[in-house]
Amino acid sequence: MDRPRRLRTTPAMRALTRETRLHPRELVLPVFVREGHGAPVPIGSMPGVVQHTLDSLPAAVEDSVAAGIGGIMLFGVPEHRDAVGTGATDPDGILNQAIRVAAQASAGRIVIMADLCLDEFTDHGHCGVLTESGEVDNDATLVRYQDMALAQADAGAEILGLSGMMDGQVAAVRDALDDAGHSNTSILAYSAKYASAFYGPFRDAVESTLDGDRRTYQMDYANRTEGLREADLDLLEGADIVMVKPAMSYLDVLAGVAERSSVPVAAYQVSGEYAMIEAAAANGWINRDAAIMESVHSIRRAGATIIFTYWALEVATWLKDNT
Ligand code: PBG
Repeated sequence: MDRPRRLRTTPAMRALTRETRLHPRELVLPVFVREGHGAPVPIGSMPGVVQHTLDSLPAAVEDSVAAGIGGIMLFGVPEHRDAVGTGATDPDGILNQAIRVAAQASAGRIVIMADLCLDEFTDHGHCGVLTESGEVDNDATLVRYQDMALAQADAGAEILGLSGMMDGQVAAVRDALDDAGHSNTSILAYSAKYASAFYGPFRDAVESTLDGDRRTYQMDYANRTEGLREADLDLLEGADIVMVKPAMSYLDVLAGVAERSSVPVAAYQVSGEYAMIEAAAANGWINRDAAIMESVHSIRRAGATIIFTYWALEVATWLKDNT
């Protein structure tokens, strides 16, 4: 009789035969930085996650270095927003300032990444600029993304996270970076990014003012083949890393992308995934730490070798204690 249980008999046997292992360096911590000074501000819908300020950011970088994670992804929370997202391209805009502060604090010890998208900076809350009739204007937005990329690269971002889901955004940003002499700045493409209810708490985190939804640019959750197509296009356009987002409800897409990708594959365990586990655990309905480890490992098992998670520091610490 076949007895697969033989390999599960002892902790040592299970450790020996484990198929997937996570390393702290594969984890990336998303970090929110708000305009203004002073202490970090808690985010109600994401217990344990805060909006940092430029004052508290260096310590957050130091904590990330100490935890041994791979990098951080910066998001800006500006005080003022306008129709074209001027704050995104202003060298003194909050995100560009945060990049400068983080890059200096890190001094090369972890990778500094920045979200490249206009939604945090526009008063209408969309990821791009609008036409007169109120539609998101793909090609006009690409020009804004090019300027934003240059501002971020100048500030010292090493990887730009293109999360706006505009067609042609990877090629447009690559061209602009290369023309400006930033040929070593990498592009992480949010390739298969779905219009998802699981981004709910993030809107709180960045104080987004979006009315309506993003379904004319983010993908329909019913589509897998289209997710693979988006990843193929980004690979052709020169993406250095491709990403699937959210993670847990899209593990099939992630596995498909990982199978065909010739570059590293990332996945983003988003705010709603975080909030669900925290809320259930706070109610005593699930074992928090076990649920976190299971969820993060499932993303690794499905094919991501880079995982964005709000638990990055905690998971990294657990991994160091127990391999
Ligand atoms: C867009 C962006 C979003 C997230 C990351 N980048 C929001 C959106 O597309 O609506 C969501 C991240 C999360 O929910 O944790 N700048």
